[in-house]
Formats: sequence, structure tokens, C-alpha cells
Amino acid sequence: MILSSVTALHRYLRHTRFKRYLRDKNPLPNNEKVVNRVKNYSRMPLMQLEYTAPTTTLVEALAKRRSAHTFSARPMPQHILSGILTTALSEVHGRRTYPSGGGCVPIESYVLIENVEGFEKGCYHFRPDLGALEYLWQKPHAFTLGETANDAWVKKSGVLILFTACWKRNISTYSEFSLELALIEAGHMGQNIVLSAAAYEASARPLCGFKEQILSELFDLDQESEQIMYCIALGSNGN
Ligand SMILES: Cc1cc2nc3c(=O)[nH]c(=O)nc-3n(C[C@H](O)[C@H](O)[C@H](O)COP(=O)(O)O)c2cc1C
Repeated sequence: MILSSVTALHRYLRHTRFKRYLRDKNPLPNNEKVVNRVKNYSRMPLMQLEYTAPTTTLVEALAKRRSAHTFSARPMPQHILSGILTTALSEVHGRRTYPSGGGCVPIESYVLIENVEGFEKGCYHFRPDLGALEYLWQKPHAFTLGETANDAWVKKSGVLILFTACWKRNISTYSEFSLELALIEAGHMGQNIVLSAAAYEASARPLCGFKEQILSELFDLDQESEQIMYCIALGSNGN
């Protein structure tokens, strides 16, 4: 039977990686019980994000939202990417802009930048607690966004946002339900991103047909304990 890449990904997550983690790490050993709510690449440069709030109302953003088929070759302005990330994913008074099953916040956000004014191309990690990006490392010189998925439109986008699940944060509370909760939370975060993109008149398209192995290696993820759930591609408006 031929499986679509999305179905194959889900099977892989549930039956292979997630189940193995569940078997081996639930309950978590005592020395792993203290869990950070956000990853911290403290030795990497931290970039505060400057932006202006959009004037678009929520109702207007909801009405405008659509998944883009085309992206402009124009670089995305720095303040627009900063605004989308901060308004969609940051903490406000210590509270995230999206709900989380049991408040476990298992989802981390990473950003792969290819074509944004003022940002070096490369791999970044978003800090919701600081409203900032940690610059991780360059991507290989010849590597383009087109290599992250089979969909042809991806290579025309300028940014890929990755949402990963850190199982350690919710598995001791929710056991095998942790996978669904992580997917739902990533969905909330993705909706925040696409609405914010609509408010800033940027183009966005969700992506589940991503190449998991390539992206996990690019971001040096511990593939046993942290898995990519969902991606959103962004770019300048192509219309
Ligand atoms: C969870 C999810 C995964 C998606 N994955 C892909 C994808 O891999 N490739 C793609 O071209 N579109 C993907 N999409 C976008 C859908 O194709 C799109 O939302 C749908 O066609 C409806 O169009 P609209 O968003 O403009 O209303 C995804 C959407 C969601 C919600």
C-alpha cells in the first residue's frame, strides 16, 4: 500500500519513535524529573526582535487568512518576521499566547531562515519567554528550503518555522495521550502564526509533508526525545 508522506510521518511518530520513548522513559527516571519549560541555547547569540503591532483586526485577519501557493522572491522584511513570531508565540506577562494541555508546553519553535532582510541565513531557536531568537548556526552553503519537503512551492518561501515536541515535558503526566496533546498544541501555535502572517500581509502555508530526517539533523535534535510535529512556511506576499 502506498502511504502519503503525511500518513507515513504519523505512523513513524506514533509507532516507532514516540512508542519507543514511551516504553523506555515512562515513568521518567528521577534524575530527569526536573524539566525546563523552554530550551535554552545560552552560549549562542541572542537577538531581540523589534516590531510594530499590525493595525489589522482579528476579524480581518481571520477573513484574510489563506494558504499561499506562491511566495514573492522579495526578502521578507525583518520587522515582519519579528512581528509574526512575537505576536504569535511569545509570552505576555508569563503566559503563552496559546493554550497547552496541562500547561506542560511541550512544543519548541525553531526557524530556518533563507530570505529575510537583516537576518543571516541559517538555523534559529525562538525563545517565547524573551521574545527573542537564538542564532544557532549556518545552514550548509548549498542547502535550500526546497530540500526540506517534496512540495515545489517550499523552495520559493523565505522562512520555515518548525514546531517540535519535547516528550519529557508531558509524558509523565499524559503517557500515550502526549502525542495527541502535542499535535493539538502545535495546531494552536500554527493558527497563531498564519493569522499573524495574514495581519502583516505576509504569505504562509502549513506543511506536514516535510522531510523529518533532514530537518532534525539540520537542527541537531535529539531524535529520541524531540520530534518535529508541524511546520509553517512564510514569505513575502506573492500576489
Ligand atoms: C495540518 C496541516 C498540514 C498541511 N500540510 C500541507 C502540506 O504538506 N503541503 C501543502 O501544500 N499544504 C498543506 N496544508 C495546507 C492545506 O492544503 C490547506 O490548508 C487547504 O488546502 C485549505 O486551503 P486554505 O488553507 O487556503 O483554506 C496543510 C494544512 C494543515 C492544516
